[in-house]
Amino acid sequence: MTLLDGKAVAEKIKKELKEKIKNEPRKPILTVILVESEESIPSKIYVRNKIKAAKEIGIDVNVIEIPETIQEDELIDFIGAYNERLYLTDGLIVQLPLPKHINEHKVLNSINPRLDVDGFHVENAGLTLANKESMKPCTAYGIMRLLEAYNIDVTGKKVKIINRSMIVGKPLASLMMNNNATVTILHSKSENLKEECLTADILVTGVGIPNFIKRDYIKKGAIVIDVAINRDYSGFKPKICGDVDFKNVRPQTSFITPVPGGVGPMTVAMLMEQTYKAYLKNK
Ligand code: GUN
Repeated sequence: MTLLDGKAVAEKIKKELKEKIKNEPRKPILTVILVESEESIPSKIYVRNKIKAAKEIGIDVNVIEIPETIQEDELIDFIGAYNERLYLTDGLIVQLPLPKHINEHKVLNSINPRLDVDGFHVENAGLTLANKESMKPCTAYGIMRLLEAYNIDVTGKKVKIINRSMIVGKPLASLMMNNNATVTILHSKSENLKEECLTADILVTGVGIPNFIKRDYIKKGAIVIDVAINRDYSGFKPKICGDVDFKNVRPQTSFITPVPGGVGPMTVAMLMEQTYKAYLKNK
């Protein structure tokens, strides 16, 4: 069993980016919009990680915290001001989730696709699906790059993804198919989930339930990728954990991601890389 060390791979990517940015005439700029709400408490931690990574490599981050009371049209107007003034920023992301009264789809699609370093705009989503040059959703892209870093070729492999979101499951299915994998998307309505998982060569899980994936879900020698970031309150101190019963599943696998230190740092590294890419087009 080998750990897929996302933290180490992300560090290498960030180091290479830092070297490139050092030689640029100005720093790339990333704007992060964080709309405050009860659900945005974990978002603040994710945003903090993005700020830390950006600072390390020489990207300027402009975090805009907006009160929960903002209306959808006001938020869209606010984003519009950046869309029209490309000298203000190279990349713009809206941290998700948004408060319930705001339609995420409308907001994400109001971002100029050139600024869309999260790859969530339908134009970028469509280009990703079509296997064309695009900004790619960072978590899905980060998983592909993590596998690539370990020389894992997905060609012909049975890849099962338990997540059907626009952020993870759907774009990951596209990227996997574009790399010749045989892909199945599974979700809460899927029948025979355990049996499906048992035939996976590569199992990707993003469910949000600690210990959801147990040893008897995993074929001997499978690769397991855990996208979830859950809080486990069962012990004395709350801990971050994924969906996988890591201790028991680990011996059954050929490769496995830890949580934390697996997919999470790769997501951040991809955001940095795409911000640099957007900067190169905008400079
Ligand atoms: N919320 C959870 N993951 C993400 C992400 O990759 N980008 C943004 N903007 N919000 C998220």
